[in-house]
Amino acid sequence: MSRAAVLTGLGAWAPPTVVTNEELASCLDTDDEWIRTRTGIRQRRVIAPGEATSDLAVEAGRRALKSAGTTTADALVLATSTPDRLCPATAPQVASRLNLGTVPAFDVAAVCSGFVYALAVGAGLIATATADSVLVIGADTFSTVLSPSDRATRAVFGDGAGAVVLRAGSPEQDGALLDLGLGSDGSRSDLIEIPGGGSRQRSTGLPTDLEGTYLTMRGQAVFAQAVHRMSESVRETGARTGWPLETVDRFVLHQANARILTATAKRLGQPVERFVTNIDQLGNTVAASIPLALADGVASGELLPGHRVVLCGFGGGLTWGSVALVWPQLNTP
Ligand code: COA
Repeated sequence: MSRAAVLTGLGAWAPPTVVTNEELASCLDTDDEWIRTRTGIRQRRVIAPGEATSDLAVEAGRRALKSAGTTTADALVLATSTPDRLCPATAPQVASRLNLGTVPAFDVAAVCSGFVYALAVGAGLIATATADSVLVIGADTFSTVLSPSDRATRAVFGDGAGAVVLRAGSPEQDGALLDLGLGSDGSRSDLIEIPGGGSRQRSTGLPTDLEGTYLTMRGQAVFAQAVHRMSESVRETGARTGWPLETVDRFVLHQANARILTATAKRLGQPVERFVTNIDQLGNTVAASIPLALADGVASGELLPGHRVVLCGFGGGLTWGSVALVWPQLNTP
């Protein structure tokens, strides 16, 4: 029997500080109605001064381990594009703080597709018997890379973390990751970027460098690509899994914008009611968005054991990816 990666635990964490649309409107040229109608977002969470991505990752990771009924994992994969520092990776600190010992731990950077990419890496570690269990975390704090004066990005992004535990099992088990399809298009890397701080645009130490450390986004082009890539990716994963899309109970897509979800549902010819969403409460939490949507879907009863589920991420890079699984019975963390 072949060896599969099986989802056995789920945890999520969003920082308690809420920023409402009204609060954004008090300091930016925007208003609640514009943000709600263009994005579906009512509020987002942000970290407190002094907090960092690892703090959120630890909270989500702890909850996922508890949900899986364990305190250990053989490896930790952290999807993030806002690491605590550019070097070293953030994952080893998270592993230490979770008392996982000296297990392999590393970051995966695929922006809003990061969680699906990290699932694929975790599944690969299990398939090759490098690990019997992997803690996969998606955590980002994009509030730390947004220009205070950019009304478009500040309306969209929020902070958060979500995690799952993968364990070696059989493809017949509920929770087994059945199909993982990933893709990228680096020719469109300019659509979402932080130009400065890396080896291409190094800091000169001048105050003018600050602008280069902020996220830039070409919103309309990103919108069109998100709908195109996510609908193709979901279609391909459905076909490879042998699931006609009509038989998929829930689609859990990256929470980028409510209109992107509606347009993708329409492109796929599937009712938007089967697309789990929590974007009104959390905004776009980047690598955390899919596991946070899973946790909210479970909490609201939208996502039930036995459901056929397709997850799909899309983000900067450009990158995208999907995974199919039958939703397992999990303990609430
Ligand atoms: N409040 C008011 N006006 C805003 C605004 C805000 N929060 N954000 C942008 N605008 C303005 C723009 O400045 C522009 O003004 P102008 O015409 O005077 O230049 C106008 O609204 C239209 O901008 P546009 O970018 O065409 O708006 P849009 O309808 O595409 O909405 C986004 C902007 C960012 C909400 C939308 O493009 C989007 O969600 N894109 C995808 C973003 C995303 O998902 N990113 C992550 C992908 S992983």
